[in-house]
Amino acid sequence: MSDKGKIIVTGGAGYIGSHCVVDLQLAGYTVIVLDDLSNSEIGVLDGIAAISGVRPVFHQVDICERSALRAILKEHRDAFGVIHFAAFKAVGESVEKPLAYYANNLGGLLSLLDTMSEFGLDNLIFSSSCTVYGQPAELPVTENAPVQPAQSPYGNTKQICEEILQDAVAANLFRGVISLRYFNPVGADPSALIGELPLGIPNNLMPFITQAAAGLRTELKVFGGDYNTPDGTPIRDYIHVSDLAEAHRLALERLINKEQSSAYEYYNIGTGRGSSVLEVIQAFERVSGIRLKYKIVDRRPGDVEQVWADTTKANEILGWKARRTLDEMAASAWAWEKKRVESRE
Ligand code: NAD
Ligand code: UFG
Repeated sequence: MSDKGKIIVTGGAGYIGSHCVVDLQLAGYTVIVLDDLSNSEIGVLDGIAAISGVRPVFHQVDICERSALRAILKEHRDAFGVIHFAAFKAVGESVEKPLAYYANNLGGLLSLLDTMSEFGLDNLIFSSSCTVYGQPAELPVTENAPVQPAQSPYGNTKQICEEILQDAVAANLFRGVISLRYFNPVGADPSALIGELPLGIPNNLMPFITQAAAGLRTELKVFGGDYNTPDGTPIRDYIHVSDLAEAHRLALERLINKEQSSAYEYYNIGTGRGSSVLEVIQAFERVSGIRLKYKIVDRRPGDVEQVWADTTKANEILGWKARRTLDEMAASAWAWEKKRVESRE
């Protein structure tokens, strides 16, 4: 396989990062993973190696620890750039532990940027979120929609990180930075060798569904059936994690080929299609043959009613388009859950 160059991936043992590492390695890049394993397991590297045929170089490091990070980036200063996934991501936990979220998500980015600029690493891709749009006035939401006040400390860290990146680029500290605003990533690699590893009771819909189907959770609650949507349940733009991984590679190639029109760019990464909670449940039932027991309960505080992406910008400029269907998302999430249940037995 041709070596297209070296890329550093922070949080590369995590859910989205691991799928991105697989995609990059299959495309011929050499990947260096930095992760402190605070929300992942070392065994993920075995899954990555089994799928892609390559075990990435791995450094267990907290990126907030500047001296440790410095030694690693010095060693890999020949890398083209960094894809930065490492962060805490649980919305509810961020409300209870705001300082930990600001320390890790802002502290991690600042430590990374400072060290990158010291070693002349001047290209970065950042994991942002559609949470920056709140409940948009117009749907589908484009990148021109205003950023709304954040609903949680987690959401605020994404907004502040994007502002930090814009300021750093304006000061010419970096040559190219791209923020990808993910909608709702779900699913797993079709091999079922890597996937999402939620800690404790899942907050997100798809992992709760698969755990309920596996008998690990008793009752699936649908948070709100009285929204102003066709079936009364909230609508999101669910995107297969493998499609999301490909978006990172295409964004990276835009930086490598120096195709940017401005040093800081940002893109919506979704499918462009919205699905309600009940439609996700139906998709799961269709692909698994399992009937789920669920109950419609009160709305969950902080949830927006409906949001899905206008993906024209990413389609036209990055040349990227999500290809996988909601059924493929549900089927791959279920295959991964079943594999995990077998490995626990
Ligand atoms: P994840 O928790 O599975 O992966 C994050 C990884 O980063 C983990 O392996 C964790 O151990 C590592 N990490 C955290 N803090 C670190 C630190 N200080 N030093 C080194 N490693 C550290 O999460 P994910 O779902 O893969 O999310 C990846 C990124 O995408 C995050 O920035 C998240 O905020 C963002 N994002 C996720 C979603 C989603 O729904 N999953 C949506 C929008 C944005
Ligand atoms: N839901 C249920 N029951 C559950 C879990 C979720 O009905 O057990 C519903 C939620 O109320 C919501 C929908 O399913 O209507 C999707 O909820 P998720 O928690 O899966 O996803 P969110 O859209 O709330 O949050 C996701 C990411 C956040 C990110 C946000 C941006 O998890 O990191 O998108 O909108 F900030």
